[in-house]
Amino acid sequence: MQRAHQPAAIPDIRLATLYRQQCATCHGSERLGAMGPALLPENLERIKPAEVLRVIREGRPATQMAGYAGKLSEPEIQGLARWVQQPPAKPVGWTAAEMRASHREFVKPDYSDKVKPAFKVNDPHNLFVVVEAGDHHVSVIDGDTFTPITRFQSHFALHGGPKFTPDGRFVYFASRDGWVSQYDLYTLKKVAEIRVGINTRNVAVSSDGKWVLAGNTLPQNLVLLDARGLKPVRTYPVKDREGKSSRVSAVYDAAPRNSFVVALKDAPELWSISYDPKAEPFYSGFVHDYKMKEGIPTKGFLNPRVTPLQMVLDDFYFDPDYKYVMGASRDGKAQVISLVSRGKVAELPLRGMPHLGSGITFKANGRLYMASTNLNTPTVTVIDMQSWKVAKEIPIPGPGFFLRSHEDTPYAWVDSMMSPTAKDTISIIDKRTLEVVRQLRLRPGKTNAHVEFTRDGRYALVSIMENPGELVIVDAKTFREVKALPMSKPIGKYNVYNKVTRSEGTSH
Ligand code: HEC
Repeated sequence: MQRAHQPAAIPDIRLATLYRQQCATCHGSERLGAMGPALLPENLERIKPAEVLRVIREGRPATQMAGYAGKLSEPEIQGLARWVQQPPAKPVGWTAAEMRASHREFVKPDYSDKVKPAFKVNDPHNLFVVVEAGDHHVSVIDGDTFTPITRFQSHFALHGGPKFTPDGRFVYFASRDGWVSQYDLYTLKKVAEIRVGINTRNVAVSSDGKWVLAGNTLPQNLVLLDARGLKPVRTYPVKDREGKSSRVSAVYDAAPRNSFVVALKDAPELWSISYDPKAEPFYSGFVHDYKMKEGIPTKGFLNPRVTPLQMVLDDFYFDPDYKYVMGASRDGKAQVISLVSRGKVAELPLRGMPHLGSGITFKANGRLYMASTNLNTPTVTVIDMQSWKVAKEIPIPGPGFFLRSHEDTPYAWVDSMMSPTAKDTISIIDKRTLEVVRQLRLRPGKTNAHVEFTRDGRYALVSIMENPGELVIVDAKTFREVKALPMSKPIGKYNVYNKVTRSEGTSH
């Protein structure tokens, strides 16, 4: 018996009709997104179920998404919130034809190195690209004067950090809904875009500037694109030795090895794809969809080479030479894998949930260290990269997400953004003593996170990750605020020089 004040849940078939009538025009008949974002469990994972419900009820201010309170009944709103977080009855796909049809080239740039920036700038390598998640925009900032150069609309929910060509001219963005875009920082024009999937993790750009690799969770594959204009070149279904599909966790460029490295979410394997045309052939050892046969030599160029792992490792960090990869598992175990011998070389005695993806390396006292935050313990773990032992656990006021430094500063800056009470505190660690020497609360009560340095390491740019938010520029020696720029939830900022030179103080 249903109680009077608790009406029966609305059946899925009714909700599907309601969706078609009310939501499909903007979110797509298959929920793949249209003018609004895709509404599938993978895509909604980023926000909390309570937020899904709230958005449907109240809408999002200053966007096309209006609230449905009053228009739909409360049980209908709750039903739809639940329904969009369920997988669709008919599994969705993204075919090669759909991908090709989404491809657009807006301009054909002159790729010669005679092209110079079309605006006044002292050092085009000291530009910052700022991703503003609040209203899905990107700002380009001059890192010498801290003045904005341009601001443009991006696809919905960019993530994974933009990636640059080695000359620093082109930048590539990936959106959660699978859009990859190429943007020219010299002409300030969008060059091309393509939708490579329905749910994408990130992209990597090859160190020769020729290729872009995108890693997807929906469909479970990798898509290789021509870096000049984003034409699709090849799609790799991601299947493990047993033929079971896996989501991609992240793709990386291992520049000194002329190869991409792929972290998988569901398979105990590490993939690498060489983009060196002279790469040695190899014996795959595994049977894969794309016609690798056991014991049959496979061409080294652009073919995935599989390294079996003892466990799923889906968050990677590399040593500066890309000889080793440190990988963490979901349950907080971590190992060091050699990319040369393709085997495990050490266990890493880490606690909690290490966030290797935003780690840094630094030399201090004659040793090479790697440091990373921990998503559920209020510490920064420092690892000695010669012994692979923990050198120090540095306490900070709450779990942190991003750790950043620069070759030309003795300090590393870390947030505590995973803590509701300490999210406004940036802790500054002296790399020589491994002690916190200072704490900054630039905007008390607000999320202060994600630091990136200028090319010369003199200034640190800190995000006030709110909407409205700010980009606060701080003198990295005196810790004094120099300037603040208004921004709409600036989730990340990326200095061209530090990225293309692979500064040891930032992620890649
Ligand atoms: C007029 C177009 C439009 C209609 C109709 C519409 N939406 Fe939206 N919706 C949007 C846009 C645009 C956004 C993104 C807003 C933003 O920038 O955050 C959005 C965002 C959302 C989000 C948040 C997604 C995320 O990942 O942050 C949910 C959930 C959602 N809509 C559900 C619905 C449901 C359910 C319906 C039907 C009852 C509906 N929408 C109808 C345009 C629309």
